[in-house]
Amino acid sequence: MRLVELACHAPSVDNAQPWHWRVHDDRITLSIDRSRVLPHEDPSGRNVTISCGAALDHLCAAARAIGVRTAVTRLPEGPSSDVLATIELSPGTPSETAADDIANLRARCTDRRRLTTWPVPVSALDVLAAEAHARGTRAVPVTDKRARFRLEALTQREYVESVLGSGPTPESLALVEGSDGVIALGGPEDGLEAWLRTGEGLSALWLRATRDGLAIVPMSLPCGVDVSRAPLAEEWGAPHLLVRVAWQAIGRSALPRTPRLALHEVLSEEPAVELTA
Ligand SMILES: Cc1cc2nc3c(=O)[nH]c(=O)nc-3n(C[C@H](O)[C@H](O)[C@H](O)COP(=O)(O)O)c2cc1C
Repeated sequence: MRLVELACHAPSVDNAQPWHWRVHDDRITLSIDRSRVLPHEDPSGRNVTISCGAALDHLCAAARAIGVRTAVTRLPEGPSSDVLATIELSPGTPSETAADDIANLRARCTDRRRLTTWPVPVSALDVLAAEAHARGTRAVPVTDKRARFRLEALTQREYVESVLGSGPTPESLALVEGSDGVIALGGPEDGLEAWLRTGEGLSALWLRATRDGLAIVPMSLPCGVDVSRAPLAEEWGAPHLLVRVAWQAIGRSALPRTPRLALHEVLSEEPAVELTA
């Protein structure tokens, strides 16, 4: 239950927290909670599944910290079931940095403040991308200046039209260079398992970013609407999510935190469920 509590600090689309956990002895099952899905905004369920993937990776990170080994089976009931994963638990060795690791899970948040114009170095984006790769997630830092310009044009039309004008100029390219870093995450496959892994990669990347003093903001809209989805597919392999990366502001703890559902709303213990069923 402690692991589930920590896993629920994971990011989720619109803070929907669309997960349900069942705990039975040394096994935890993670399912989509359909009562919290957003059928109009996310008809395919992609963002909901990515959110559950992030919670799955958070659970495994918490387990590593406190000395519990995990063996994850994804989609144990096949691709048409809402059961996304089972996690078998066994005793392990606590991490020497357990307290910091848990504090890092609790510290992660979406920081949407425009922080600084210091560019995030490509090496830092590569480190984050490697964290996602380690979870089997495609992660492509968009580093070429002209490619970044095209991406800004797709994701921030008004900004681009008023500030950047109609095409790349030395001034507008300099503006793009001084803006946030961007990583294209996931794709090109679509489907439950691919989305789940994108969520796991997002979590791993975000936890590393939090540790490294970097702030993350996912951008799901450009990947979900046709007008930007098609050009994104052509140039960046149909990512599931774009992720903005910027430096964290000093004094960041002042940011109000998004609430979480109570544990009893997202978790059931199997014997208890059997009794009340
Ligand atoms: C799949 C996914 C998509 C998201 N899309 C956006 C987005 O388009 N814009 C945004 O500002 N935040 C986005 N977020 C961040 C969530 O709004 C945020 O995780 C949630 O409100 C919980 O807040 P926290 O991350 O501070 O804990 C997304 C998160 C996930 C997991």
